[in-house]
Amino acid sequence: MSEVATGYPGLQRVVFSEEEIASRVRQLGAEIDAFYPPEDELLVIGLLKGAYMFLSDLVRAIERPTLKVDFLTAALYGEGTDASGEVKLVRDVDAPVTGRHVLLVEDIVDSGKTLNRVGDVLLSKSPRSLEVCALLHKKATTGLRYEPRWVGFDAPSDWLVGYGLDLGERYRHLPFVGAIAVEEDRGI
Ligand code: IMP
Ligand code: MG
Repeated sequence: MSEVATGYPGLQRVVFSEEEIASRVRQLGAEIDAFYPPEDELLVIGLLKGAYMFLSDLVRAIERPTLKVDFLTAALYGEGTDASGEVKLVRDVDAPVTGRHVLLVEDIVDSGKTLNRVGDVLLSKSPRSLEVCALLHKKATTGLRYEPRWVGFDAPSDWLVGYGLDLGERYRHLPFVGAIAVEEDRGI
């Protein structure tokens, strides 16, 4: 952990630096590549919006000739940091999933509701395999039906921003993951 240089209101500390993330993503890419038979094609599905930056680095670290990228959008009802609502599938994938090796890429697992919902949706399409890679895992839930095979880092319980993660749609562009102070009313 290091001090934040300057400039981001409310940002308390850097939790995972740009360098730590880059090095871990390279490891994850190599592990994922080794897990699947070399001749098999992967369908990597990113959960928007949070996973967009992680996915774009991760696929570049998976060295294999055939790989497809697609996205789906899920959203928790409610705004800000209130994750008490239901998960809604806003946009489904374009690519056919049936018979494919699907790797679902998630930014952060908290309550697990998003993963449970999206996992069910993808499993109902009969993929050949379904695995999850999450950059961050808060290890805050016991009700996870799709435990990620690959996790970048165990995360603290703080609200985290950067490297794709947001607070009220802000801070996604930060090249590191930081902890931010969250207003009590959570209505951001
Ligand atoms: P879950 O459904 O409770 O596991 O929450 C997963 C989703 O909530 C993630 O994909 C994020 O979009 C969001 N989320 C959970 N915790 C954080 C956080 O600390 N910072 C930013 N987004 C978060
Ligand atoms: Mg989010």
